Amino acid sequence: MRNVLLFFIVVHLSCSAAPLSFVQQADNLRLILRQADEAYYNHHSSLMSDAAYDALRSQYDRLAAEYPELASASPVGAPPSEPSNHVVHAIPILSLQKAYTDEAVETFLENCGTNLLYCVEPKIDGLTVVLSYCDGLLVQAATRGDGKTGVDVTSAILASGVVPVALTNAPAQLDVRGEVLLPFPAFEALNRRRAETGQSPLKSPRNTAAGTLNLSDYAEIANRGLAIQLFDVLATEPMPATHTEALALLESVGLPTIESRTVAASDVLSTVAALNQQRAGFLFPTDGVVIKLDDRAAFEHLGATAHHPHGALARKYKDRPVETRLLGVDWARGATGKSTPIARFEPVELQGATTQNATLHNLAHIRAMDLRIGDCIQVIRAGGAVPEIIGVCPERRTGSETPIPDPSL
Ligand code: IVH
Repeated sequence: MRNVLLFFIVVHLSCSAAPLSFVQQADNLRLILRQADEAYYNHHSSLMSDAAYDALRSQYDRLAAEYPELASASPVGAPPSEPSNHVVHAIPILSLQKAYTDEAVETFLENCGTNLLYCVEPKIDGLTVVLSYCDGLLVQAATRGDGKTGVDVTSAILASGVVPVALTNAPAQLDVRGEVLLPFPAFEALNRRRAETGQSPLKSPRNTAAGTLNLSDYAEIANRGLAIQLFDVLATEPMPATHTEALALLESVGLPTIESRTVAASDVLSTVAALNQQRAGFLFPTDGVVIKLDDRAAFEHLGATAHHPHGALARKYKDRPVETRLLGVDWARGATGKSTPIARFEPVELQGATTQNATLHNLAHIRAMDLRIGDCIQVIRAGGAVPEIIGVCPERRTGSETPIPDPSL
C-alpha cells in the first residue's frame, strides 16, 4: 500500500446556513475532486476527462461562492506520493495559460507584441517529462509532478527506448522537456492484445502513456510503443537565442523534436487553423495548439506567474458537449466484484459515432452532479476517451425526474 501524503486542508464545515442537500453535494464534490487530484498527480491516471473535472470544479466553486461557509476545495497539484524517488526540478516546470477562443489568442498577441515572431505547434496530450543529458549521456528522466518536484522515471524511459541513451555532438549539459505519448496505432494494438487475453480496454492514450511509465515490467514498457516529442530546452550552454534555434539544437543531437512553425503575429491564427485542420490526421493525441514567443529574451522579459509564463499560450480544443436525456443507470459488475454505474441516454452523435452510454464512475459522482433519471444531460467524449456526462440542466427539470437509487440499499 502506498504511503499517500495528503496535503489537503481538512475544513471543519459549520453548515448551519446552507440547506443540507447543498452541504452533501459540496462534500461529494470535494471528495471527487480530491480523488481526481490524487489519481492525476500521484498515480498517473485520471478518473475523468479535463472537461468533466473542470465542470465539477466550477460547480463546486459556484456552491462555495453562494455558501462561503462551505470553504474552498483542496488546491490541485497534489505532491507526488513516494518520497524515495523524488526529483526536485532545478527550475520550476510551469504549465500553460489556456485560451478557448480566437479573441483570447489576439489579446495574447497584443500583450506580447504584434511585431514579434511566434512558434506554433501541436499541444501533445501525453505526460510531461524532463530529461537531463550530461556529456551526451542520459542521466535522469523525471515527471513534472507538481512542477517543483517530480518522480524519477529514468529506468522506464530507458526501457521505453523513446530517446537515445547517448547523443552525438551534444553540449556538456542539456536539460530538455517534452511529452511522452502513446501513438493511436500503438494504443489500439495494445487494446487488441488485451481483448485477446480477456482484459478490459484501457481508457485513453494519455492515461496509458502515463501508466506505462509507472510499470516495473520493462519488457512490457518496451513493447507498448511509447514515443516522445521534445519541445523545450531548459538548460544548456550557451542557451539558444530563439525557440526555433532550441528545436534545431534538439534535432541536431538526434532527439525526437516537435514540428513547429515560426510565423509572424499576423499569421498565428491561420497557422492555428491549419494545424486544427490537420489534427484528425495526426497519429498522436493532441488537445490544442501551443503558441510561444520565438525570441527567448522577449519571453523572459514578459515574466511568469507561479503557474505559467506570459509568453506562451495553449489554444485548447473544446470538446463540445451534446445535450440528451438520461433514461436510466445500469450497474456493471467488474471482475473484482465492484459495481460501476453506466448511464443510458437517448442516442446522440459524438465525434462521428452514435452513443447512448457513458461512464458515471461511482455513486458519489452521481450524487455530486445531483443527477436524476429523466434529466437533460450534457455529454462529451474528450480526447477519444469514453463518453462522460459533464453536467445536468436543472432549469430544464419538469419535476417528473426520479432519484437514482443506491444499488447496495
Ligand atoms: S510549452 C513554458 N509546448 O502542456 C512553456 N507545452 O497544459 C512550456 N505541452 O505540461 C510548455 N505540448 O508540458 C509546450 N508543444 C508544447 C506542448 C506542451 C504539450 C504540455 C506541457 C504542459 C501542458 C500544459
